[in-house]
Amino acid sequence: CKRVGILTSGGDCPGLNAAIRGVAKSAYYKYGIEIIGISNGYRGLIEGDVRPLKAKDFDGILTRGGTILGTSREKPFKPDGRERDSDAGSRKADAIIENYKKLKLDCLVVLGGNGTHKTAYLLKKAGLNVIGLPKTIDNDIWGTDVTFGFHSAVDVATEAIDRLHSTAHSHNRVMVIELMGHKAGWLTLYAGIAGGGDVILIPEIPYCIDSIVEHLVKRSNQGKEFSIVAVAEGAISKKEANLAKEKKKKHKKESKYPSIGYEIAKKIEKKSGMETRVTVLGYLQRGGTPNPYDRVLATAFGTAAADLLAMGRYGYMLAMRNNHVVPVPLEEVAGRLKRVPPDHGLISTARDIGTCLGD
Ligand code: F6P
Repeated sequence: CKRVGILTSGGDCPGLNAAIRGVAKSAYYKYGIEIIGISNGYRGLIEGDVRPLKAKDFDGILTRGGTILGTSREKPFKPDGRERDSDAGSRKADAIIENYKKLKLDCLVVLGGNGTHKTAYLLKKAGLNVIGLPKTIDNDIWGTDVTFGFHSAVDVATEAIDRLHSTAHSHNRVMVIELMGHKAGWLTLYAGIAGGGDVILIPEIPYCIDSIVEHLVKRSNQGKEFSIVAVAEGAISKKEANLAKEKKKKHKKESKYPSIGYEIAKKIEKKSGMETRVTVLGYLQRGGTPNPYDRVLATAFGTAAADLLAMGRYGYMLAMRNNHVVPVPLEEVAGRLKRVPPDHGLISTARDIGTCLGD
C-alpha cells in the first residue's frame, strides 16, 4: 500500500484540521493509503519528527482550530539569518530528501501558503512527489479563487467591525481597525465591505492621508457622527509607493511596530481634530473554529488530494476555480502572489456606495 506524509506549514488558520481530516479519511478509508503525520511543518521532516496517523487521530477534528500537527515557518532552502553557515539551507533540504526516502514515502502532502508552495515546487524539482493544499487567511495564493481560512477570518473581522460601530456611535469617534492580509488587501476589502467600513485601505491602492481626512470631515459635516476606517496591515501611502518605485525596490516597512493602524489614526486626529481610536485585531483573525464554508472547502480539497494520491498524479496544488476543485501545476503557483487587481469588481462595488479607498 502507498505511504504518504502530511504536514502543515506557515501561519496557522481555521480549516487546517478539516483539510487533514479530508485527506486522511479519504486516503485511509477509501484507498487504504498509510498516513504519516509530520510535526511542525518542514522542520519535522528535517528532524525526523513523524508519527503514523490512525483513525483516532483524524476523526473528530473537523471543527478544531489550529493544526493537530503543529506548524512552523521553516524554509528549508533558505538559511533563516540566524544560521551562520550559508550551506544550512541546502543541508536542511538534503535532510528532507533523505528522510522522505528513509520513510519510504510515495508523496508528501503539504498544507500551506505561498512560502510552503515555493518549497513544494523546489522539492518537486529535487525529485520528490508533492501535492499542495492552499490555506491562508490572506487569500493571496496564485491559481486559486479562494483559500481555506480566508472566509472564517472575514467572519471574525466583520464581527469586530460590527461591534466597533456601536461604541464609535456612542462616543462620536473615528475608529481605525487594522486587519491582517500580509501584502494583499483581500481580507480588508471583504470585511470592510461586509462591515460597512467608511474608509478601506488596502496595499494595492496606495493612500493619501489628505483624501482620507477630507472624506471623514465631509461625513462629519453631513451629520454622520462616527466613521470606521478599515486598514490592511500592508497598506502603504502614495509617498512610500512612489519612493519604492524610484528606488526600484519593493516597499519594506522598517518595523511592524508601531503598526500602520496607529500611524493612520495619529495623522487623522492631528489633521482633522476628530477623536480617534485604534483596534489591531491581530491573531484573533487566525484562531478558532472554521466557518461552514471553510469546513466544506478544506474537506473538498482534502478528498481531491486523496484522489490524486490514488491516481499517482503528483506535482500539483489543488485550487478552486469557478466552483470546481482542479489541480494546478506547482510551477504555476510557486513564487507568485495573488493581490487584488485594480479592476476587481469589489473595488468598484465599494466606490459605488461611497466608500473612500484612500486614493
Ligand atoms: O499569512 C498569514 C498571516 O497571518 C498574515 O496575515 C500576517 O502578516 C502573518 O501571517 C503573521 O505572521 P506570524 O504568524 O509569523 O506572526
